[in-house]
Amino acid sequence: MEGAAASGPRAAGILASAALAAYEGIIVWVGPSDEADASVELVPGAEVIDAGGAMVTPGLIDPHTHLVFAGDRSGEFSLRCGGASYLAIAEAGGGIAATVAATRAQSEEQLFASGSARLGRLLDQGVTTVEIKTGYGLSVAEELRLLRVITALGQPGPIEVAPTLLGLHALPAERRDQREAFVSEIIEELVPAAADAGAWMADAFLEQGAFTEPEVRRYFAAAQKAGLGLRLHADQLSSGRGAELASEFYALAADHLEQISPAGIEALAESGTAAVLAPVSSWVLRLPGYAPARQLLESGVTVALASNWNPGSAPTENLALTLGHACLSLGLQPGEALRASTHGAARALGLDRRIGRLAVGWQADLVIFGCADHRHLCSHLGVNHARVVVKRGKVVVRRGLELCAD
Ligand code: NIG
Repeated sequence: MEGAAASGPRAAGILASAALAAYEGIIVWVGPSDEADASVELVPGAEVIDAGGAMVTPGLIDPHTHLVFAGDRSGEFSLRCGGASYLAIAEAGGGIAATVAATRAQSEEQLFASGSARLGRLLDQGVTTVEIKTGYGLSVAEELRLLRVITALGQPGPIEVAPTLLGLHALPAERRDQREAFVSEIIEELVPAAADAGAWMADAFLEQGAFTEPEVRRYFAAAQKAGLGLRLHADQLSSGRGAELASEFYALAADHLEQISPAGIEALAESGTAAVLAPVSSWVLRLPGYAPARQLLESGVTVALASNWNPGSAPTENLALTLGHACLSLGLQPGEALRASTHGAARALGLDRRIGRLAVGWQADLVIFGCADHRHLCSHLGVNHARVVVKRGKVVVRRGLELCAD
């Protein structure tokens, strides 16, 4: 996709009739297919795939998920259909607290098994890298247990896992009267232990009813000291200067941003912090508005798209739905949505020098989609068109290459 005829500064670059070659998991050549034979020497055992008229893209990247969880919150879905708000459901004992109780009740083996099945479903759609957060443990020991499950999920591959500590997600019910002690434990004990246990990033939920700016500041300072990348659930339900705070700390990403202010947009543009948008959760929560994606793009902010897969605010792993929804609700063009799910998402994980592009030197993570172009991929809402998925140069999903004719 990287190359000649880009259709806009932030759209996916499109190369028609192209070919690429990879060696030992790295892309070593990209160019017109009629030059491939003369330019690429096949090593013994090399596999040649003729994609016909199908579209080849970088492997999709999902930069914000909570996919290690137990329990089912479909009852909340019905309540929201009837008009109940996310905060009202949480105050009545549902929401994050319900998932925490169900998750704590499962063994690491059970959580690993469901997590693994979920990763398989992402891979099947062409997702080759996924961020997974803790956040349903809410104690030092429980959060470290979730982190063990998440890092273990990344071990077998082929899907690559970026583990994030979501140490400040909610105040657990049993610590309601010990807020200060809980926050201090997370900052002083959990953050360094999580860095030692393999977390790459630290995330927090800055929101009324969740955590405050001073608490997040202390947490970010400790996480930075421990060598973790930063990201923040920011300006989701109310405007809380989250984008500004994330930018001040040069966080990798500020996520959600439905309520971001003009000053917040400016701050992201200046700091280079990516905006991770999760339009399906704005829809599912029936929020009054969506994140201002066009203003973010026009201000020069890197935009990434995420499923935000979790059992409450985004109960779906369907990335094709996220792409299509982003076009309709955020006003992205299909090429911009695809770029946000590849290069933009790689930026949000700090991995954009390695994944998210089909360019020489980048990791050979790619998808052959059974459709002629990105417009079909986004407009045929929620349909899985992935036919062949390649991770680090190896075919990991293989189906027939016929193009969708519907
Ligand atoms: O990203 N906003 C906070 N966290 C999640 C929701 C988690 C849940 O409801 O279980 C989110 O939307």
